[in-house]
Amino acid sequence: MSVDHELQKRRDFLKDTIRLETDFSKTDQSLGKEPPPVQKEIPPQSKTIPLLKPTEWTKRKDAGVHTAIANRESRRRFSDSALSMEELSFLLWATQGVRKIRGKNVWRNVPSAGNRHPFDTYLCIRNVSGIACGIYLYLPLSHQLVCQQSLAPQELAEKIGIAALGQYFIGTAPVAFIWAAVPYRTEWRYGAASHKVIALDAGHVCQNLYIACEAIDAGTCAIAAYHQNLMDELIGVDGKEAFVIYLAPVGKRT
Ligand SMILES: Cc1cc2nc3c(=O)[nH]c(=O)nc-3n(C[C@H](O)[C@H](O)[C@H](O)COP(=O)(O)O)c2cc1C
Repeated sequence: MSVDHELQKRRDFLKDTIRLETDFSKTDQSLGKEPPPVQKEIPPQSKTIPLLKPTEWTKRKDAGVHTAIANRESRRRFSDSALSMEELSFLLWATQGVRKIRGKNVWRNVPSAGNRHPFDTYLCIRNVSGIACGIYLYLPLSHQLVCQQSLAPQELAEKIGIAALGQYFIGTAPVAFIWAAVPYRTEWRYGAASHKVIALDAGHVCQNLYIACEAIDAGTCAIAAYHQNLMDELIGVDGKEAFVIYLAPVGKRT
């Protein structure tokens, strides 16, 4: 399939190659400018409606959701314990699992613009009970994994650490979720208007991972800083029709 220049440019918006092209010494922060307000400024006389603070709530609708949201944070230290197969199954279900199928339409447990779900989930498995170390692909329709490459634990840890620009803590996690964008799934319907929503979709997936991790005493950390080509190579995608957009290591909390 040939991809026109305009479309390729818009696909590139999703890649992390911009990091290599950006002169960070010229950003406003580097130039010493004041940071922008952390909240949209409203006119001084605006009428506001107070909301109840968590400490004022008398009845929780769902204690599990409450706890998971309240405890969520980015976790970069993981215990040495393995993740069980059941825990991994739960996390995959939570992030890309299938909720409903009607003909050719497949709904999942996360939202996606136009229900296009433009991601494939790869796993860099280092320490999951019953699964050999290596790179795996998740198959949501059958809720299965397929091995892409077997690798020794040390080699895997080193490769993902280097591909993540020296963020070696990722290699200490029993498993890392690596999401590859498959833009055509969304472009098929939305053409050049696809790329922003693909990025938005990725956020939903990772957020479900954060919340689901909290429910099993595990933790994760969203990772968007990585070497595009090395990470694409690690999971075996071509960098054109599919490329890494986001990743997240997962392990039990220390
Ligand atoms: C889009 C995105 C990209 C991120 N990339 C990285 C990263 O490459 N490395 C890292 O250690 N943390 C990364 N983080 C985690 C943030 O640093 C973290 O969310 C932020 O410091 C707030 O902390 P909290 O998640 O504990 O609330 C990223 C988070 C988001 C949402």
